[in-house]
Amino acid sequence: MQPYSVFALSHSKQIAESVCHLLRKRQGQLFSTRFSDGEVYARFDESIRGETIVLMAQVDLPYTNLFELFITIDAARRASAKEIICVIPYLPHSRQERKDDARSSVSARLIADFIEHSGADRIITIDMHSTSIEGFYKIPIDHISMNNEFIRHIRTSLQPDNLCLCSPDFGGLKRIKQYKSVLNCEMSVIHKERLHPNQVSNMEIIGDVKGKDVVIIDDMIDTGGTLCKAADMLLQQGAQSVHAYCTHGVLSDDAISRIENSGIHKLIISDSIPRQYLGQNMEQISCAPMLASAIDHLMRNKSVKQFNQTHS
Ligand code: R5P
Repeated sequence: MQPYSVFALSHSKQIAESVCHLLRKRQGQLFSTRFSDGEVYARFDESIRGETIVLMAQVDLPYTNLFELFITIDAARRASAKEIICVIPYLPHSRQERKDDARSSVSARLIADFIEHSGADRIITIDMHSTSIEGFYKIPIDHISMNNEFIRHIRTSLQPDNLCLCSPDFGGLKRIKQYKSVLNCEMSVIHKERLHPNQVSNMEIIGDVKGKDVVIIDDMIDTGGTLCKAADMLLQQGAQSVHAYCTHGVLSDDAISRIENSGIHKLIISDSIPRQYLGQNMEQISCAPMLASAIDHLMRNKSVKQFNQTHS
């Protein structure tokens, strides 16, 4: 086993505590604060010279969290850490992984450049919006998924009579097929058109959902617009119930009340993004055990894919 220490950004102390508990490690001393104008400051309060460090980094918005990551990586590099492994459960800007209009940015690529230029050596992340993002990085990425945790929950808590999986867009088809291969059930897909970010203009369900217990699987839920509209349509087309599993609970805007007031029976998210409050029809499954296993496998030079592949 390779020796290493675990540190956490200011926004990630709670998940780091769970991960450290599972790994039987103590959390290293990392101090961060803000100048009065908001400028971010970070400092390691113990020596990391020649060490491998694992940096727990939940970097959802505001952008200061992301900036704290860049600055902390830089501080680690300047403090002579040997290797800097960043655990970034939710990679922000993943929806902008291609130029979708003539004069738009590919900001997922820009984020990759910032992280690499800061000095990161490796990333562990969960359920990337698109696996093509991995190609933006020259450093290795260990991409793990919530599939097994969600499948276990579907089997034990939902126990659906008449399960039909549903992907809210064509981009999620590969993910749905992985679930289908294990759950051995029917599937449907929604053809979705967007006019603007976060605004779905049109949806069409492909597949028969009448009388089915539909389970929507998505990588993320932001405003909840996609999910609530999909649930309404599925119920209109005769679905018996609609549940949803989304790895990253961004939940911006009025997402929580939108979901509470929708036809969704229950939404299950992970804690890849820290949340103070969950809606009444929401539940959280921690990704900490998976992250701890990924770190442990990595440090033992054991296959990460093997423990994380979708299995029955
Ligand atoms: C889109 O491709 C994603 O997989 C999600 O469906 C989408 O980002 C969710 O956004 P919102 O909740 O704002 O509709």
